Amino acid sequence: MTEPALFSVIILLAASHYASLQGNPGDMRINLLSLRYEAVSSINRSLDAQRPESTYDALIGAIAKMASYEAMFGSLENYDIHMQGLAKAISLRGGLTSLGLNGLLHRIVVWIDQNAAFLHGSSIYFPMDTSASGETPSDPNPGQFLGRS
Ligand SMILES: *[C@@H]1O[C@H](CO)[C@@H](O)[C@H](O)[C@H]1NC(C)=O
Repeated sequence: MTEPALFSVIILLAASHYASLQGNPGDMRINLLSLRYEAVSSINRSLDAQRPESTYDALIGAIAKMASYEAMFGSLENYDIHMQGLAKAISLRGGLTSLGLNGLLHRIVVWIDQNAAFLHGSSIYFPMDTSASGETPSDPNPGQFLGRS
């Protein structure tokens, strides 16, 4: 709630899920496009406002959720753009294991990566190093991904 970019992306996702449950989602298309524009603009503004290596969890979460939005409702091309930005931001932060929230954000990023790759037959951005973490990733679950992400 304190990061405008993350808030905008969550509103976009909620509105998109809502629209997809309506009989005639075409009516909401213009509103969804302006929410999408606002989400990307606010991510841009937040990125402009800080040094890249200090990119904080809420902004990384916003970029990850924006990628998942594109995987679910948008285009693979835009998904790739957000995932490339996400990979860059996470690498500047010091890698997946340096993300906060006790590993939750790390798991959210891997979950989005694996499910989007599974759904679209596209490549993985964050290959799991299972030898190091000792954690086995959960299998992709498109039903859960599309319903809850
Ligand atoms: C956000 O920034 C990217 C990269 O600079 C740019 O290509 C894009 O047009 C910007 N989008 C908005 C909505 O500001």
